[in-house]
Amino acid sequence: MRYPILTAEEAAALIQDGECIGLSGFTEAGAVKVVPKAIAERAKAEHAAGRPFKLKVMCGASNSPIVDGELAQADCVSMRMPYMSCPHTRSLINNAEVPYVEPHISLFAQNMRYGIIPRVQTAIVEVCDVTDDGKLVFTMSQGSSADFCLMADRIILELNTYHKPCLADIHDIFIPEDPPNRVPIPLVAPEEKIGTPYVQVAPEKIVGVVMNHQKDGLPHYRPNDAVTDKIGENVIKFLEREYMAGRIPPEFLPIQSGVGNVANAVLKALGKSSIIPPVKMYTEVIQESALELVRSGRVTFASGCSLSVSDEAMEEVYANFDFYRDKLLLRPTEMTNNPAIVRQLGLICMNTALEADIFGNVNSTHILGSKIMNGIGGSGDFARAAAITIFSCPSVAKKGAISAIVPMVSHVDHTEHDVQILITEQGIADLRGKSPRKRAEIIIENCAHPDYRPLLHRYVALSPTGHTPHSLEKAYSFHLAFKNTGDMRQVEL
Ligand code: COA
Repeated sequence: MRYPILTAEEAAALIQDGECIGLSGFTEAGAVKVVPKAIAERAKAEHAAGRPFKLKVMCGASNSPIVDGELAQADCVSMRMPYMSCPHTRSLINNAEVPYVEPHISLFAQNMRYGIIPRVQTAIVEVCDVTDDGKLVFTMSQGSSADFCLMADRIILELNTYHKPCLADIHDIFIPEDPPNRVPIPLVAPEEKIGTPYVQVAPEKIVGVVMNHQKDGLPHYRPNDAVTDKIGENVIKFLEREYMAGRIPPEFLPIQSGVGNVANAVLKALGKSSIIPPVKMYTEVIQESALELVRSGRVTFASGCSLSVSDEAMEEVYANFDFYRDKLLLRPTEMTNNPAIVRQLGLICMNTALEADIFGNVNSTHILGSKIMNGIGGSGDFARAAAITIFSCPSVAKKGAISAIVPMVSHVDHTEHDVQILITEQGIADLRGKSPRKRAEIIIENCAHPDYRPLLHRYVALSPTGHTPHSLEKAYSFHLAFKNTGDMRQVEL
């Protein structure tokens, strides 16, 4: 290999205070593992010596406990983009210690290329293969790693020998030209390859290679509970109804499935459906529940930007790689989340809400309008452009003290114009073609928890006139009741 082999500490010493670094990893999948740990140690040493050391940290989306835990806790993150789901980084953001920006993921790399957000100066990425002429093969995720490498002044590689170069068979890298030179993206089916299995970089930018041999360390996903199982069943019941009514074509439509527990429950229910035929996925994160459906044949192809599965599942993928190699594909997020492709493929997009209001606006990101949970991630990319957009969530949180159905969401991620179907364990609200008053009626009756239905009806009754029956005085009365009493059921209307 023509590149110098470095220790993690030597690599970390190359990073300058104030730099913008781009790290591979989309969840823990494909995350760089040893250099960020060494950067965290370096930051602590610099701070102990009274010197400043802070970095702008760009990732594909959420990252590992090393990046969003140890690095963040070393007080060396001056900016974090574009998504996170780690309690440590979350509390730093919510304490206003780390500025956090959460763009639509499909626009993240493009905004960096356009110079709208800081450009990555050093890319630190995990690869399973690198050639002397600068061809890099990523491991379990892509995210924005290809763009980071192309834009960076220098590249540090973590060559992970646990992973095998055969992974090249499940990667496809296509970076579109920027306008006015962009042509239509030639992708008309989830399984199509339109790029290369590697990213080609100038070899002189590769300043060093750090060896490692570590698995991603992703845990098994949490088992579903009765509520999430019921949500999953309701989502599939809705899709079966649409399918039997002929509003979904005989071969079905490709599906996108979001992140988290509810998303896992939806896929579990899909696996049991005897009505829905085997489907293709065109999604962002391929969670372990999706891999199980590939294994069982319920999903015939899964395209995503990250194969986010436990170490045991990864072992199984390697053991049966001949089975998986033509059924899995990883792409840059600019492709997986591209709204033009989402609209073109006619995706059915299923994502999770924290709360929704009686008109269909959805909050996926903020607790009581102020504290960030994770971020919008790709949900906005998919919601607006989908053929069918479904949001789901449990009808209540915190043992019933919080209603997920409220008069007005405390933060808006997806407007009533994007949200077509709302589903809780209580039932299904098909909002398509319905006026705001009708939407309020069916959301309250079908999705709200019985404890909250009379209260929500009473809220609507406050405004006998108006296209959208809102009371500015009482719109946040449910949230205020929770803030003041710890229980939304104490609301006064
Ligand atoms: N108000 C306050 N807290 C609420 C709440 C509300 N309306 N609704 C839920 N919560 C709490 C829950 O009680 C739970 O808290 P706990 O961890 O203390 O029990 C937490 O918020 C969320 O539960 P979690 O188990 O993490 O839910 P999940 O795994 O189903 O994830 C989202 C749900 C919305 C956080 C997650 O899907 C997400 O980050 N979405 C945005 C990004 C996205 O959709 N990406 C996919 C596009 S590809």
